[in-house]
Amino acid sequence: MSVLEIKNLHVNVETEQGTREILRGVDLTINEGEIHAIMGPNGSGKSTLAYTIAGHPKYTVVDGEILFDGENVLEMSVDERARAGLFLAMQYPVEIPGVTVTNFLRTAKTAIDGEAPSVRTWVKDVRESMANLKMDKAFAERNVNEGFSGGEKKRNEILQLELLKPKFAVLDETDSGLDVDALKIVSEGVNRAKANTGLGVLLITHYTRILRYIKPDFVHVFVAGRIAEQGGPELADRLEEEGYDRYQVAEPAAVESVPAE
Ligand SMILES: Nc1ncnc2c1ncn2[C@@H]1O[C@H](COP(=O)(O)OP(=O)(O)OP(=O)(O)O)[C@@H](O)[C@H]1O
Ligand SMILES: [Mg+2]
Repeated sequence: MSVLEIKNLHVNVETEQGTREILRGVDLTINEGEIHAIMGPNGSGKSTLAYTIAGHPKYTVVDGEILFDGENVLEMSVDERARAGLFLAMQYPVEIPGVTVTNFLRTAKTAIDGEAPSVRTWVKDVRESMANLKMDKAFAERNVNEGFSGGEKKRNEILQLELLKPKFAVLDETDSGLDVDALKIVSEGVNRAKANTGLGVLLITHYTRILRYIKPDFVHVFVAGRIAEQGGPELADRLEEEGYDRYQVAEPAAVESVPAE
């Protein structure tokens, strides 16, 4: 059984003004098949947590650990993390000019599995997943995310999720910018992945509407670089009604100047 454990995670980022501490002691355990939603104000460090799990080089872990099935994730390169079964759907997916969606998916699948997928089943799988996500076939030959609308980019992230079959997925505001139909289609994609592979999910969102389709087991409130409260799905409804005032962020969100050495 897969488990992702985040313990006392402290993360800094270097800025032109000096070092800023963004994550300030995050503790979180996600078991296989569990869905954890993270909600919190802008700038509280949610994407920083997502990038740190994925291994973005801008973020320096200064304390704490991330373990995946007991293995030290922080010692792994980005591609080792992907091969271990970690997946990130980005808040702002990047464009990759010159690389078609087809080539990208096939290259990623080959890198993750250590061998090329069989041509016949792969072509069928790609077609089927694109059809499931109501993506026009033409997208297969377009360059990754180039000229895609906001919602099309999010759908393309979930296409990768369906085909690469990770054990654990971080979805960073995958619902933002989706129309009502697309929200449903994308949510169904996530639920399918969960049903097929027992996926564990960390779902970052500002809105409860996606939680009607993807039912969270736990909701965490993220404020100023750490988890301020956790509860069940009812917590999400309360947050939508009341906002984050009760957590009284006395200092600017998630920042604290650390003197340069
Ligand atoms: N590379 C960076 N350089 C400078 N500041 C950064 C960098 N990355 C993050 N930060 C700062 O860290 C804080 C947390 O950012 P982060 O993107 O993690 O917030 P978030 O909770 O995802 O917000 P949102 O809900 O708006 O997506 C912000 O104040 C942001 O400006
Ligand atoms: Mg963010």
